[in-house]
Amino acid sequence: MNDAVLRIRDLKTCFDTRDGMVTAVDGVSLSLGRGECLGVVGESGSGKSVTFASVMGLVKKPGFIAKGSINFEGRELVGLDPKNYRKLRGKEIAMTMQDAQTALNPAYTVSNQIIEVLLAHDETLSGSRKAQRRQARQQALEMLQLVGIPSAETRLDDYPHQFSGGMRQRVMIAIALACKPKLLIADEPTTALDVTIQAQVLELIADIRDKLGMSVILITHDLGVVAEYCDNVVVMYAGQVVENGPTGAVIATPQHPYTQGLLRSIPRLSDLSRRIEPIKGTVPELIDLPDQCRFMDRCTRAQASCRDLIAMQDCGAGRQVRCIAPGLAGGSDV
Ligand SMILES: Nc1ncnc2c1ncn2[C@@H]1O[C@H](COP(=O)(O)OP(=O)(O)OP(=O)(O)O)[C@@H](O)[C@H]1O
Ligand SMILES: [Mg+2]
Repeated sequence: MNDAVLRIRDLKTCFDTRDGMVTAVDGVSLSLGRGECLGVVGESGSGKSVTFASVMGLVKKPGFIAKGSINFEGRELVGLDPKNYRKLRGKEIAMTMQDAQTALNPAYTVSNQIIEVLLAHDETLSGSRKAQRRQARQQALEMLQLVGIPSAETRLDDYPHQFSGGMRQRVMIAIALACKPKLLIADEPTTALDVTIQAQVLELIADIRDKLGMSVILITHDLGVVAEYCDNVVVMYAGQVVENGPTGAVIATPQHPYTQGLLRSIPRLSDLSRRIEPIKGTVPELIDLPDQCRFMDRCTRAQASCRDLIAMQDCGAGRQVRCIAPGLAGGSDV
């Protein structure tokens, strides 16, 4: 894709721990087009957050990027110095963290947290420091209104703990969007929220994406969310991408047994008599994993040749899968 905003190639991110080297991200490649919404799904511990912490330059010791390339708008981010990273973060790429409660600074009012981002990055602010602060405060108010905080004017000087979970997520989105980034990475923006609030927050992201023409990466456990909001999807398992492609096609005819398992484990309103089948077992420890299919111990179709190194292979229509015997199972109407 020529018009890619973000292109990750063969990214490997490790943590040098007391128990050994954890390879949290192992050879991840993906692309995101301009204005596209890409869903990233996978069970807990599959490497979703670490992949995008790597993009944000937020992997800290004992973590490090061991190899690979992260290209954002033609610029290589692996090895970018901290000063240039600070310029980029918040201004061109913003990420809402998985846990709004801990990601917001409890000691600062919500307006201050937005104002600080604007003062650091917004070149349209002008005049004295005081005048810039006044303009930034006005913009902070507009951002809170944009994300649907009721009576935003009176809430500007509240602290994060004075907001409910859903409202805190909105505040985080307001901070992330303050400088109108080209790319928004939303890490599990709705996991802690009840269903109606979930829908509101996702609609909000979709709406702002349309208004600002942003590209969005939506990290989630929920394939239903992906089906509704994402153009393309990347399925991750144990630090690797196991399947990717256009959302509709991947959900209708999943090729990887893991994707098929994820789809079978979602309740479906259209068929309440259907049994939900959880995938047995858990994601393996990411230390010293052998070069074989990582899903084979949980796969009902595993065979001897799954012990070989399995690379991603094209399977047509812009799709790829990491399996020697892809397909072979019915699709889904999620
Ligand atoms: N600071 C760290 N030190 C050691 N291991 C880490 C560290 N951060 C993450 N990991 C490991 O990296 C792996 C991937 O973690 P990551 O947070 O990316 O998973 P995830 O897919 O985002 O899961 P979740 O859905 O629970 O958010 C996990 O095995 C985790 O234990
Ligand atoms: Mg995570």
